[in-house]
Amino acid sequence: MAGQGRRTETPGNPYLRGLFAPVREEVDARDLEVTGRIPAGLDGRFLRNGPNPLNIEEPAAYHWFQGPGMVHGVRLRDGRAEDIRWLEVEPCFVFHPMNAYEDGPGLLTVHLVRYDRLFAARDSHGPDEVPPRLVRWTVDLVAATVREDGLDERAVEFPRIDPRRETGAHRYGYGVLEPEGGYAGDRARRHLLSPTEPAPGLSQVGVGIVKFDLERGRSETHPFHPDGDVGEAVFVPRAGGSGEDDGWLLTYVFDPDRGATDLVVLAAQDVGGEPVARVHLPVRVPVGFHGNWVPDASAVDGMASPSAI
Ligand SMILES: [Fe+2]
Repeated sequence: MAGQGRRTETPGNPYLRGLFAPVREEVDARDLEVTGRIPAGLDGRFLRNGPNPLNIEEPAAYHWFQGPGMVHGVRLRDGRAEDIRWLEVEPCFVFHPMNAYEDGPGLLTVHLVRYDRLFAARDSHGPDEVPPRLVRWTVDLVAATVREDGLDERAVEFPRIDPRRETGAHRYGYGVLEPEGGYAGDRARRHLLSPTEPAPGLSQVGVGIVKFDLERGRSETHPFHPDGDVGEAVFVPRAGGSGEDDGWLLTYVFDPDRGATDLVVLAAQDVGGEPVARVHLPVRVPVGFHGNWVPDASAVDGMASPSAI
């Protein structure tokens, strides 16, 4: 990794030159030289994602945030530093892992949402080329393989879990169910039917909330108004509870009948049942991304730790 950062890739575009230029080699290294002392107990992995714009077709049009990326990582353990191991997977794009954890000696389980292709369409304004799918990667560090298993045929995004289970084994996960074929699938279909007409607008991203039982391979869905919209569901543990799904899911749901948004509370143990509560907001909340629950200070002790927020 070191020593390659000053390669000049292309004149013209400042995001392809100098320290922004990509590196060409993937390097695995062990027992790295350390100056000073790595503090005792600082055991873990420092991972950082970033662009590595190799083989850009139109350098003049390159945007810093698009194109190929690369993750760099260093593992610190017992006062030593070593590089991360890299394993190959089928090419894809991932915004959102659900969770990842060690699942036995040399085995890792990763649940994530993958796209087969993204940012390939020239006129794309969003991740709307193919639908997202929830999959499981089983990483075998001994065999150096990654097996991928699809977990659901439907288009699902914004995966979340009980924050107390993050980086540990978990049974449940939650996601936003998109319209069939992905949130832009209906738009693409209508455009194909009448290609001479201007492309219709996007109508919604989410149509429901799904709870996955990853242990038993089951799911439970809460559909909302078919002409509304549903955002990411945040799991909030019940104060004093310890069960993985003992709590609530909070999400913004647009109600087209009111022309405004509700904050909806679902019981995580009865996702398909009637909402526990709907807080009727006086406004429409635009389609968004991520959220978190921040408990009042008095409730922190009995709920998620502050580090999980
Ligand atoms: Fe995101």
